[in-house]
Amino acid sequence: MLVFKNAQDFQRWHKEQKESLALVPTMGALHEGHLSLVRKAKELADKVVLYIFVNPMQFGPKEDFGTYPRTPEADLEACKQAGVNAVFMPEMADIYPEGKENCTKVLPPAELGDILEGHFRPGFFTGVATVLVKFFNIVQPNVVVFGQKDYQQLLVVKRFVHDLNLPVTVYGASIVREPDGLAMSSRNAYLNKDQRALAPRIHALLQEASSKIKDQNDNTAIEKNLDIIRQKFKDASFELHYLEVRDADTLQPISNNTKTRILLVAAKIENIRLIDNLLVN
Ligand code: PAJ
Repeated sequence: MLVFKNAQDFQRWHKEQKESLALVPTMGALHEGHLSLVRKAKELADKVVLYIFVNPMQFGPKEDFGTYPRTPEADLEACKQAGVNAVFMPEMADIYPEGKENCTKVLPPAELGDILEGHFRPGFFTGVATVLVKFFNIVQPNVVVFGQKDYQQLLVVKRFVHDLNLPVTVYGASIVREPDGLAMSSRNAYLNKDQRALAPRIHALLQEASSKIKDQNDNTAIEKNLDIIRQKFKDASFELHYLEVRDADTLQPISNNTKTRILLVAAKIENIRLIDNLLVN
């Protein structure tokens, strides 16, 4: 496995390659969720590049950029085991040579970027879209693989790839969960024993919400049921940022045109913010 620490070296290698390339973007602290993306990427292209870069532009001033888990050695070992062909782990100055404030930015449309996660984390999707456009241009992959765990992020990526005519195919892979239902996340490393014991309630309550609303078409009845679940989150001592049912294609409120519905949640256990989602069948 090759490891590249700057863009020029990576691009020199890439120019020599004739095969198709899949990219798996990550911020490191790799877990089975990330590695499932690698496995999917291997099915979709000849070679797999995984990048690790904790992107400061997508963190708010009060968020956890400084403390975000960083485990480079374990990550490299996991990549080797998973059959990644090249890992790209650039320095900050390689990605933001003029600093993140002075960088040209990619602004997703408000209807998608300013709702849900974007409402609670202003500028988040601008940071995500900007860094991804940079990495897409450096790596020039044929296909990029993202997790449905960050469902809104996946739609934002599909949208800017479409809107900016980027020559890349976006693939969304299913959520990998712990045996008790908790969606895997690098931020799960923050949970202490009690918090870890509480965290699977998020998925359990999503399932409960899903079974309550799956046969319902009346918005008032659906909202009433969601309110019951919202109260259960609060009773279980979560600070609920949102629990919403939306159109899975647009993330707009459901309507008669909605084909697939999705439940999306962001909830805090003390200062640890977790997100999850569930397609409603
Ligand atoms: P990160 O949180 O490291 O996630 C990298 C990729 O792994 C994302 O596509 C995410 O959806 C996926 N992923 C995380 N947990 C998963 C799980 N349990 N099951 C399936 N996929 C999972 O998302 C980011 O980094 C950043 O915003 C990034 C896209 C790298 C831009 O900075």
